[in-house]
Amino acid sequence: MASERQHRNEIVQYGRMMHARGFVAATDGNLSVRLDERRILATPTAMSKGMLRASDLVIVDLDGQRLSGKRNVSSEIGMHLLIYQLRPDVRGVVHAHPRTATGFAAAGIALNQPLVCEVVIGLGSIPLAKYGTPGTPELADALAPLIPEYDALLMSNHGVVSYGEDLASAYMKMETVEHFAQIALITHLLGCQQPLGARELEKLMIARTKYEGTRSAAAMPLAPLNGNGKNGSRSRQEKTKADLLPTPAGSRRS
Ligand code: 13P
Repeated sequence: MASERQHRNEIVQYGRMMHARGFVAATDGNLSVRLDERRILATPTAMSKGMLRASDLVIVDLDGQRLSGKRNVSSEIGMHLLIYQLRPDVRGVVHAHPRTATGFAAAGIALNQPLVCEVVIGLGSIPLAKYGTPGTPELADALAPLIPEYDALLMSNHGVVSYGEDLASAYMKMETVEHFAQIALITHLLGCQQPLGARELEKLMIARTKYEGTRSAAAMPLAPLNGNGKNGSRSRQEKTKADLLPTPAGSRRS
């Protein structure tokens, strides 16, 4: 089992990667690790995740009370604690605002179309949770129904949260979400989506049980359970004449 020191270094490393990849701007985002049954190691509030030192991190208990560290813990610690509470299998949580996935979250579009086989195997789909003010019970209420079912969530008008058996797995899911969002965006730009069919999806569900990279207690169903997500999928046939006309400057299509 990794030592506290190793976990501190790991948070610093994945914070830098998150910043380098443009998943966060300014002091956005937060990361945490479950050290044991009663202690969570988390990033401090209001610091760049690209410039953290191991000594900046804070240890809190399961009620969010600081046990050690000089700085104040992330303002989003409630969301991390909720995930640890609802998912005993989870040992690492990552929250970020990667621009493409957050664009979908701000457009009210879930990433729940089975467009790419690897994403179906790894995450099932990425549902969109309702909006809730950061750091409040409103956000917890929006996320709570989805946390037991999925390992990565879009948060309406906010960003993405992902979690896994360790911090590395939580971070990898964040990369997968943003990469998939970019692919989904390209299908939107091309004006056509070709989701995988039921038979292919069944085979992928079997493949998931054998794939070493997917170890999760979540069922990760393909259809969204909840939230206010629209799937945004349209086939070429569904495109209307209006879609082909230029949009007048300053106006929006409904
Ligand atoms: P903290 O700096 O308090 O962790 O908050 C950053 C953030 O991303 C809020 O959504």
